[in-house]
Amino acid sequence: MSSTTESAALPLQQRSGTFDHRVVTIPGDGVGPDVVAAARRVLDAAGSRFGFTIEWLEIAAGGCAIDAHGVAIREEDLQIADTADALLLGAVGGPKWDNPNASVRPEQALFALRTRYELFANLRPVTILPELYDASPLKPERLVGVDLMMVRELTGGLYFGKPSGEEVTPTGRQAVDTLPYHEDEIRRIAVVAFELARKRSKRLASIDKANVLATSRLWRKVVTEVGAEYPDVKLEHRLVDSTAMLLATWPATLDVIVTENLFGDILSDEAAVLAGSLGMLPSASLGTKRTTHGTFGLYEPIHGSAPDIAGKNLANPIGTILSGAMMLRESLGHVDAALAVEAAVAAAVRAGARTADLAGGADAAALKLAGLTLVGTREATDLIVEQVLSAKGGAA
Ligand code: IPM
Ligand code: MG
Repeated sequence: MSSTTESAALPLQQRSGTFDHRVVTIPGDGVGPDVVAAARRVLDAAGSRFGFTIEWLEIAAGGCAIDAHGVAIREEDLQIADTADALLLGAVGGPKWDNPNASVRPEQALFALRTRYELFANLRPVTILPELYDASPLKPERLVGVDLMMVRELTGGLYFGKPSGEEVTPTGRQAVDTLPYHEDEIRRIAVVAFELARKRSKRLASIDKANVLATSRLWRKVVTEVGAEYPDVKLEHRLVDSTAMLLATWPATLDVIVTENLFGDILSDEAAVLAGSLGMLPSASLGTKRTTHGTFGLYEPIHGSAPDIAGKNLANPIGTILSGAMMLRESLGHVDAALAVEAAVAAAVRAGARTADLAGGADAAALKLAGLTLVGTREATDLIVEQVLSAKGGAA
């Protein structure tokens, strides 16, 4: 997409007035380019229906950037990202760059972005369309009513604590990681979670390991203090280990969940399994930076780069398309368009479209007998675009 790189070189003023929003895409590795291209099409369709335009620029990050430039993301590309209202990322990484001891690794791009924009609030919603209950490992009756919003703290804790490293001691090798949390870091993520809970079921579960960890005890105190400002929200504290069990047994017990970085990483993957395929789920990482119409954010599907199916028209684009809907809502100020995109996805699934990840190993013929249609990335996207453009497709 050389045109996008060319326009990136133009001064900002030359573009203003032409487009309503600027989104920088970071397709990344594996299926990343497949799913980002799909989401772009859907967001442009939403723009044409709801009357706004998006200027798309593209930068390299992850393994492809390591191959091309020797680093996971270049400073000059981060400067292009600085000018965006939002970032849309596909996936980074793959077996080619998998050596955890390498000094340059694809996921460094994620950390660079999270740090640069202080993207401390990672939102990972998990909803399950009834038509997809069969794809989930849980029994359908356990899935009824599941509507989770995982709020993961993303810029603190073990991922960034110092000291961190390995050393050789007289008795053998030893490694250390450090888990620090400042009350301000806890407070701001708690506020995000309480605000979300207030707009949803008014229930918030704060997850910690307060029976063991000092950071968890501080977490509990600060979340409780913030809770005093939200008397309308019912706050409960839960331990992370039993919450892991609850998520896999009665997930509808939970609504908004707020937790620290590492617990959130683990619990959000566990929660994602409920949806039957990681390919369905979106995420948003938000920080302190504001845009004209909302909060600057980084949007990406939950799934990884799946290099085995890259470029084969096999990837499920829905996680990225729904990430695009989150972007419309949080960063671009188009709630109606976000609802229309979400409704369009639901309509395509309801109409029987299934990408391979949702087919449970069934081939096209077997699916057809069940009244379903095996579709590729492009066909699924065509259907969703069609729904977005049709006035029946949802809001408005
Ligand atoms: C995620 C991923 C990352 C994380 C990895 C790739 C560093 O697992 O976004 O959940 O742990 O934050
Ligand atoms: Mg993870």
